[in-house]
Amino acid sequence: MNATVNEFNDVGDILVLPLFEGIEKAPNNALSGLSRTQRSLVNEALASDSFTGKSGKRLDVWTAGCQVVLVGMGEDPSDKACRDAGAKTLAGLSKDHGTNVTTRFTTGWSTSKMALFAEGMILRDYSFDKYQQKEDDDNQSDWNLTCQASPRHQTGLSAAVSKSSAIATGVHVARELGNEPANVMYPEEYARRAMEWAKGKSNVEVEVWDFERLKKEGMHGVIAVGKGSERKPCMVFFRLNPNVQKDDQVPCIVGKGITFDTGGISIKPSAGMEDMKFDMHGSATVFGLFVALQASGYKGRVNGITCMAENMPSAGAYRPGDIIDTYSGKTIEVLNTDAEGRNVLADGLWKSAELNPSYIVDLATLTGACVVALGHEASGLWSNDDGLSARIHEAGNVEDEIAWPMPLLPAFEKEMTGSKVADVQNLGKGRWGGACTAAGFLKQFVQDRDGKQIPWAHLDIAGTAWGASTNAMVANGATGIHVRTLHRLITE
Ligand code: BES
Ligand code: MN
Ligand code: ZN
Repeated sequence: MNATVNEFNDVGDILVLPLFEGIEKAPNNALSGLSRTQRSLVNEALASDSFTGKSGKRLDVWTAGCQVVLVGMGEDPSDKACRDAGAKTLAGLSKDHGTNVTTRFTTGWSTSKMALFAEGMILRDYSFDKYQQKEDDDNQSDWNLTCQASPRHQTGLSAAVSKSSAIATGVHVARELGNEPANVMYPEEYARRAMEWAKGKSNVEVEVWDFERLKKEGMHGVIAVGKGSERKPCMVFFRLNPNVQKDDQVPCIVGKGITFDTGGISIKPSAGMEDMKFDMHGSATVFGLFVALQASGYKGRVNGITCMAENMPSAGAYRPGDIIDTYSGKTIEVLNTDAEGRNVLADGLWKSAELNPSYIVDLATLTGACVVALGHEASGLWSNDDGLSARIHEAGNVEDEIAWPMPLLPAFEKEMTGSKVADVQNLGKGRWGGACTAAGFLKQFVQDRDGKQIPWAHLDIAGTAWGASTNAMVANGATGIHVRTLHRLITE
């Protein structure tokens, strides 16, 4: 979508008018640029009982040359309601009569609420239909959005719309990576796309550690999980603005990138297994975050690490009972090959501490147990640092990407360090608290600095990375979750 901001002038093929409850006639400027006939059609609709401005209600008025869409905003919509309304409005538009959309903000709109409505439209404009044949008369052009508001809003709204557009490119990249099927999106294809993105960008570096390099470095957590597949594992390092703040501590974001999770030898049941193409969404969010940071012009240094592997059963696969010698020097007793995310993150997390991080955040579609606990409404948030946890929670609230604090209790860690044959085991004692024991496992791979663990937070996005039907920003499939949260965390 191309999105710009302008004063009230001409209208496009579609005119979107978001209006507050109680409006009975068109506010000033709402109908400028329309002919007398067009105005009277809209005014009649506004005066009728068919449109009251109630939230969630919408009325389309056909006029020659311009479809006018009246959107009810209720009396005093929340930030979330404004963003959601923009998204739902875009979702309901058809390209049959053109792709030039004018959204007019008139009486009652603050700059920030306008920006949120526009952001919803921008974020919602993504679909994954590239593998489907198109009808000849399907309009394939991109939307062209003009947001119109009075002069005093121009500067603020323009800046907000540009920023949202930049961040949305990252969200959409994350969704695209997540949605790609596993026959297309395997570890080295992810790495190739990262390299391709970095090409020609002077403030970006992407480095790929292939299978050979992983062996040389001793990344046996990633290797163990990935070695059963024809598609070999790799790690991808993202560096934004690598030449500034050289001695400063800067954030490092780590992502689980299982391009397909069959469960391995501890194989999963077939029902729903197709969804395991999304098991790399942690890595998709990391990639999308770097796209968003770069596109929005962030000037600080940031590091990212993704651990890419395909978890397959084969003659070369790792087995239950295996003992993995991870990069950290700690050994893992494999009790279930389907608890693979934590094995790859063990290496990624340990490595992240070498980059002198101010804090580490990892993202992973880690456990079904997290979906049991929080459904599709919130990601689980575990942290060894209350300040960091609060900042992530707050950023998530502002972006309506809820990250809900969960307990990192010593007892959970103890369950994971009780192995008789290795330093840690990759399964808890039972099913209970499965998302918490997983977090307790990860904590074993966060290094100390000056006698204290580096601030670290873990986001379990198993329930929020896809299949979140209440997420108005997305039609279906991958959500691009937490690109916006982390962009805010890092830049604000
Ligand atoms: N990728 C899955 C977690 C998952 C399951 C995400 C369902 C989204 C929806 C992960 O690798 C996994 O298989 N976890 C196991 C862990 C168990 C073996 C301790 C799980 O949750 O069952
Ligand atoms: Mn698994
Ligand atoms: Zn998995």
